[in-house]
Amino acid sequence: MGTRPLLNRRLHGLGTTIFAEMSALAAATGSINLGQGFPDTDGPREIAEAAARAVLDGRGNQYPPGPGIPELRQAVAEHQQRFRGLAYDPDTEVLVTAGATEAIAAALLALLEPGDEVIALEPFYDSYAACIAMAGAVRVPLTLRAPDFRPDLDRLRALITPRTRLLLLNSPHNPTGLVLNAEELAAVAALAVEHDLLVVTDEVYEHLVFAGAHHPIAALPGMRERTVSISSAGKTFSFTGWKVGWVTAAAPLVAAVRTAKQYLTYVSAGPFQYAVAEALRLPDGYYADFRADLLRKRDLLAAGLAAAGFRVFNPEGTYFITTDITPLGEKDGIEFCRTLPERCGVVAIPNAVFYDDPDAGRPLVRFTFCKRVEVLEEAVSRLSRI
Ligand SMILES: Cc1ncc(COP(=O)(O)O)c(C=O)c1O
Repeated sequence: MGTRPLLNRRLHGLGTTIFAEMSALAAATGSINLGQGFPDTDGPREIAEAAARAVLDGRGNQYPPGPGIPELRQAVAEHQQRFRGLAYDPDTEVLVTAGATEAIAAALLALLEPGDEVIALEPFYDSYAACIAMAGAVRVPLTLRAPDFRPDLDRLRALITPRTRLLLLNSPHNPTGLVLNAEELAAVAALAVEHDLLVVTDEVYEHLVFAGAHHPIAALPGMRERTVSISSAGKTFSFTGWKVGWVTAAAPLVAAVRTAKQYLTYVSAGPFQYAVAEALRLPDGYYADFRADLLRKRDLLAAGLAAAGFRVFNPEGTYFITTDITPLGEKDGIEFCRTLPERCGVVAIPNAVFYDDPDAGRPLVRFTFCKRVEVLEEAVSRLSRI
């Protein structure tokens, strides 16, 4: 095959995702997997039944419409109105995708030219770096630093250049648990308007906010026409394997994203789209119980990690806790996570993999708490031994 590397140079260094490596390690060592963010119990029974019914009734078993089935687009628009006060036309301003992951990929591939600069909150969810790279664009990190991980807005202003095309936000933020507050969002929005930037905002944890509230940046003045909002059913309804996500944005933005999306998967998850349409219409009590359940679990794991000697950064949102391992006499999160399964039968994710600057995240380690209480209790008991 000659000497030319097989992997396209844009993807150089992206390798296997850390989640695959750590989940494989969890399986190989029989460890409790607090690495990858997926729940160990499925979402509501009636929503699973809705999916089964759709399959058996022959709804969605053949290619659904490219933009998503009308019932789901309508339900997404209603959900944006109900929880965020945002009005979107289900026919032209909503696009159903194969999870938020495809929405992110399609948005970045559609909206970026090679050489464009994208400012993103670092640590980055791993697909951002890959998709920016696939678009031939340049990622410019706005690094969030412990202990509070709040964005430095002066730094953001300084990072904007004539090549900046897009701000890539994620709030609630994985892995730090930061929830951008109203003042921060207003400052970001003002910069976007001043410099005529697009904003792509990943809000998959929008229903997991424990302190303050989730504010959609699309609602701020001047933002509707420049913001692509992304969310998904995976986290909110505990069906991460279904991969049903969506984009809401002004019609010209949705048209651009749809153009890229149609050549990525074309369509996906037909029967699940019917079920997610039902899920989005669950009563407020569902969303409140979901949040309360995760809040209890956050507090359980946070207390256990602190008792085991970790420095805990209590998350305002998401289902992840970032910790600092230096009080344990440890320095390197990657090394720590590779040996943790052997040492005590727990798997976690080193935050360093989410940074361009590995030093910024070196002593940080992320644990998820979207597991059953007894699993978290067992994990805490095992961690107390290190
Ligand atoms: C910030 C963030 N965005 C997107 C995703 C992926 O969402 P989906 O499973 O809907 O593709 C995740 C999953 O962990 C995530 O943490």
